[in-house]
Amino acid sequence: MARLVGAVCTSHIPAIGHAIARGIEHEAYWQPFFAGYPRAREWLTAAAPDVAIVVYNDHGLNFFLDKMPTFAVGAAREYRNADEGWGLPTTAPYSGDPDLSWHIIESLMAQEFDVTSCQEMLVDHAFTVPLALLWPSRSQPLRTVPVCLNTIQHPLPSPMRCYKLGQAIGRAIAAYPQELRTVMIGTGGLSHQLDGQRAGFINKEFDLMCLEKIVSDPLALAQYTIRDLVRLAGTQGVEIISWLVARGSLDDHAVKVHSHYHIPVSNTAAGLMVLENAA
Ligand code: DHB
Ligand code: FE
Repeated sequence: MARLVGAVCTSHIPAIGHAIARGIEHEAYWQPFFAGYPRAREWLTAAAPDVAIVVYNDHGLNFFLDKMPTFAVGAAREYRNADEGWGLPTTAPYSGDPDLSWHIIESLMAQEFDVTSCQEMLVDHAFTVPLALLWPSRSQPLRTVPVCLNTIQHPLPSPMRCYKLGQAIGRAIAAYPQELRTVMIGTGGLSHQLDGQRAGFINKEFDLMCLEKIVSDPLALAQYTIRDLVRLAGTQGVEIISWLVARGSLDDHAVKVHSHYHIPVSNTAAGLMVLENAA
């Protein structure tokens, strides 16, 4: 049977991709941010997942305001990257796992989550930057299943709905008959607002509370409304709903392996959380 080894949740800021491309991770601005990641990579190496289920939000590359699925799941053999406007170097395509994708899609539909299945799907910085942080060399074969949430065009899915989507994905993985090690990756957040009068808004107190509750009491976070999250974490801080999907897929008693918090990176409070599933 397939096993879910744990989850890694991380911010996905495009500037991180530029820093990696330029090889300036050790410069003074970047060092305190990148210092958080070796421990996450070490845990992933030991956990040795075959497939990463990457929960993220598209920023106008694959979906635009004209057609916006609330939840979309990739079911392609590979996922190509392209530049949605940040000027990041385009990465090599990521391998898919269509069998696992269709199993998850069928299972989610049976659990009353009406997802959009995508047999073609471009992946943007919210997918590629976290994978570049977590698997820098791409030397091991890793297959991926993208799960895309709408964080752009209101109405957005509620935090509680996202937590429950995660629970449903966890049940889908547990019911997959192949011997397979999977890991959930949740990308986005923490507090940030890129536009409007509050551009640059960061809420450290709220972020630190989120880093604690995502481990010990995710239902407390799931109680917030999207409106609450916009107020407390900024218009783009709502991206933390990806973390709630990842957390929802794990056992209630998943344990924290590592976390990291650094402000700011570009306009964003950068957060990292590594959670291990109960054996
Ligand atoms: C930034 C953060 C994001 O989450 C994003 O998608 C784009 C930019 C930033 O802080 O620059
Ligand atoms: Fe973003």
